[in-house]
Amino acid sequence: METILISVDNSMDNEKIYKQAVDILKNGGVVSFPTETVYGLGAVATDEAAVRKIFEAKGRPSDNPLIVHIGNAEEVEKFASGITDDAKKLMEAFWPGPLTLVFDMKPGLIAPSVTPGVETVGIRMPDHPVALRLLRTLGDPLAAPSANRSGKPSPTEASHVLDDLDGRIPMILDGGRTGVGVESTVLDMTTVPPTILRPGNTTREMIEEVIGPVQIESSSSIERAPRSPGMKYTHYAPEAPLFVIHPDSRKIEGAIQTLQSEGKQVAVVGPDEMKTEVADWYFSIGSLHDHEAMASNLYRALRQCDMTKADVILAVETDLSGVGVAVMNRLTKAADGKQYND
Ligand code: TXA
Ligand code: MG
Repeated sequence: METILISVDNSMDNEKIYKQAVDILKNGGVVSFPTETVYGLGAVATDEAAVRKIFEAKGRPSDNPLIVHIGNAEEVEKFASGITDDAKKLMEAFWPGPLTLVFDMKPGLIAPSVTPGVETVGIRMPDHPVALRLLRTLGDPLAAPSANRSGKPSPTEASHVLDDLDGRIPMILDGGRTGVGVESTVLDMTTVPPTILRPGNTTREMIEEVIGPVQIESSSSIERAPRSPGMKYTHYAPEAPLFVIHPDSRKIEGAIQTLQSEGKQVAVVGPDEMKTEVADWYFSIGSLHDHEAMASNLYRALRQCDMTKADVILAVETDLSGVGVAVMNRLTKAADGKQYND
């Protein structure tokens, strides 16, 4: 299959491009499109055969539910039941935006492969002009996980999608770099209080300001009963083993030198302030206290590590305020929990 990559940024003929994408989707195909978080790989959420093509293209285990994207907030009523006043307040405050809300699902509409093993559905309205225009032209919801091969860092640029899925999907809409850089916050509205299943750019503090206290899915309860099944797989990982390391310049340089003395080449992903010539490669992802920048640049940096000859990757820890929680969540998964200790 030939993969067409088309820019919808400055194209003169946008209407034709959206029509082409909608035709593919209506005919049961998949299309990759940008959202404000990461690129998604979409299929019409009510078309079982189409949704299966997502899993095939990604090489993703099919026991992991997909997020349903809608172009208008009112569509949520069609697919979800038990929409509480708190949920309405959150939609009002954060949609369109990087917040996925998990509801009880109305039966019989969403394709079974979108929600394997669960009776709930995760829905969000993305805040990106290309995603919104595609959804509104289509008039149907799109099931869309991130458009990476399973286990790889999510794509934040169209070229990342091409690197992973060239020849496996018919079309990529190129809307430039995404802004947020990490996937949406997933909030389960079926528990009391609601539970953050995946941290993202819509932070706990922001949510609590609107609806009061929420709980956080702890790793131990995930092991017992994976409510967000995606959380049990290694995710977001570059090829070389990755270790999280404390933000201490002397410790980082010491670690690099120790590893190099063992004949290893070392790539470091870290803040601008700790850039060191000792590293074989250093990928800066923003200033130490600028969590938004770190989130935005993290996946590109992890992909850049894959283009080096690094034997080991060290990723510098950030603090857990605001979006820092989401950054550390993704880094911990990419590291499979490994922390560098000398
Ligand atoms: O920002 C995002 O959310 C991106 C863009 C493309 O919108 N999408 C994305 O989708 O990250 P995906 O499929 O890679 O991640 C979906 C996550 C998984 O961890 C899944 O387990 C959880 O959301 N999820 C989806 N539906 C769920 C449900 N009904 N119950 C529990 N968890 C759910
Ligand atoms: Mg993903």
